[in-house]
Amino acid sequence: MAVGVFDSGLGGLTVLDAVTKRLPDVPFVYFGDNAHAPYGVRTPDDIFKLTTAGVERLWAEGCDLVVLACNTAAAAALKRMQETWLPRDKRVLGVLVPMIEAVTERNWGDNSPPREVAVKHVAFFATPATVASRAFQRELAFRAIGVDVEAQPCGGVVDAIEQGDEILAEALVRGHVDALKRRMPHPEAAVLGCTHYPLMERVFAEALGPGVKVYSQANLVAESLADYLTRRPEMLGQGKKAKFLTTGDPRSVSDRATQFLRKKVVFEAA
Ligand code: DGL
Repeated sequence: MAVGVFDSGLGGLTVLDAVTKRLPDVPFVYFGDNAHAPYGVRTPDDIFKLTTAGVERLWAEGCDLVVLACNTAAAAALKRMQETWLPRDKRVLGVLVPMIEAVTERNWGDNSPPREVAVKHVAFFATPATVASRAFQRELAFRAIGVDVEAQPCGGVVDAIEQGDEILAEALVRGHVDALKRRMPHPEAAVLGCTHYPLMERVFAEALGPGVKVYSQANLVAESLADYLTRRPEMLGQGKKAKFLTTGDPRSVSDRATQFLRKKVVFEAA
């Protein structure tokens, strides 16, 4: 019984942390494609190739179910993977929908027509590839009407986090929030649409100011995964051991992961 968690790099650790707390008996195998991060500046084809290679590596660890803890991979490749690539006995889940369900106050499986919701002005922060895919707006439009979304591509932030440069990441986040606020001065909610951004959540919240509800994915994804596994317990794969895999240099990735999560994390070569 093991479940895979995939990200382009370190960001998915924010999701891993939450799913491990929510499902302490499940061994999770984490795969960070650090050698190829950031994905946010790559083409959809490139993201598809890299993501499918990473997911196949997780299958080899006995994980029949993989959580794409990467909005960029989910936005650019998940639909194509599900339609053209995924074998019948495997499942890949994304992270965008649980967050949209939270913003639109919906439960899983509620397929009723789109309706008016409480929030009207939503700021969406994500990588350039996620913003370009418009996946957030599309999924939102299936569920809600009358919501004005202003999306900010946050170039450079993932790269700075991957390099362990918190000062640069913080400066970039403040600049991106300012840029968005020039176009939408009073958002009611802000969605952090990249799993790296919870590492900078305090900075986003400060720059946005009081009164803006910040939605971050980790706990929402953990709840949604727990719910999924109750419905589909057979998707717990054959794997037995939790581990951390990276395509990057295991030592420096372990150091940066330990720095960000503030607990010891040891990666091995994928
Ligand atoms: N954590 C990934 C996401 O959620 C970052 C993508 C990237 O590598 O640019 O989008």
